[in-house]
Amino acid sequence: MHSAPSSASTSVAPTWDPQQYLRHSGHRTRPFLDLLARIPGLPTDRPARIADLGCGPGNVTVLLADRWPDAHITGFDLSPEMLERAEKDWAGTTAGGGWLDFRPADAAHWTPDEPYDLIVSNAALQWVPNHPESFAAWIDGLRPGGTLAFQVPGNFTSPSHALLGELCDTPRWHGRLAGEGRRFVHVLDPADYLTRLVDLGCEADAWETTYSQLLPGEDPVLDWVKGTALRPVLTALEGDQEATDAFLTQYRDLLREAYPRGPHGTVFPFRRIFAVARKPA
Ligand SMILES: C[S@@+](CC[C@H](N)C(=O)[O-])C[C@H]1O[C@@H](n2cnc3c(N)ncnc32)[C@H](O)[C@@H]1O
Repeated sequence: MHSAPSSASTSVAPTWDPQQYLRHSGHRTRPFLDLLARIPGLPTDRPARIADLGCGPGNVTVLLADRWPDAHITGFDLSPEMLERAEKDWAGTTAGGGWLDFRPADAAHWTPDEPYDLIVSNAALQWVPNHPESFAAWIDGLRPGGTLAFQVPGNFTSPSHALLGELCDTPRWHGRLAGEGRRFVHVLDPADYLTRLVDLGCEADAWETTYSQLLPGEDPVLDWVKGTALRPVLTALEGDQEATDAFLTQYRDLLREAYPRGPHGTVFPFRRIFAVARKPA
């Protein structure tokens, strides 16, 4: 496992900004649709019960209702800002007669409170240290024939993330930001996920895809990470506009060099890791 160095002693949970996060929702949704396409049919003797861990603003959670229209789907998240947005936009009955609700929960400690047919997580478990240790409890909480499926970013050695970590560790920022640029690095390679899930008695599939994302506009990679990897840094510098601006200027210049703008936009390659595990029926 790539593991994060210990965080700065002042580390707090990052504040999320749903509006910023949703600015790239097209590119961010694609891997979820690819994951969804690999999830097998769920037990059909009753409407499905589904959990979405780290549901964010709920815009991908709601896509589960397209595939399982009468399901009861619960999105769990740690961030009050994300939950508020998800509630406002999506909570209630779904078009197919199902139900969508959202609840606060820390995925690091969450265990199924009732039997689920599907536990899914998209782009969230990288924030949860030791999440593979929870697989046994999550699979235990699935009904026979149920599925655990997740997608995590696998781009922590890419320039966007490496440069962020390095900048936080420079003498200028180390005192305030040590570790904050690497708070999210808790993922395994596909083969390691596969082995763990098969060890737990599941039929499993794991793979990776690198998306070559063409982003429009000025400094689009900076804009992208402002919604995700930069959250801990922005949270640590909150209330100090001068420091925030100085950090963002330095980081922006590094990103401009690493991801030059071309005639059609800026190519931002993004590796993602997927796993789907089915509990025997
Ligand atoms: C990059 S967003 C992904 C949101 C959504 N799943 C999507 O695909 O659009 C990551 C989400 O994980 C949530 N998160 C981070 N750590 C968490 C934890 N320990 N427990 C629950 N949610 C967490 C954040 O609050 C955030 O909403």
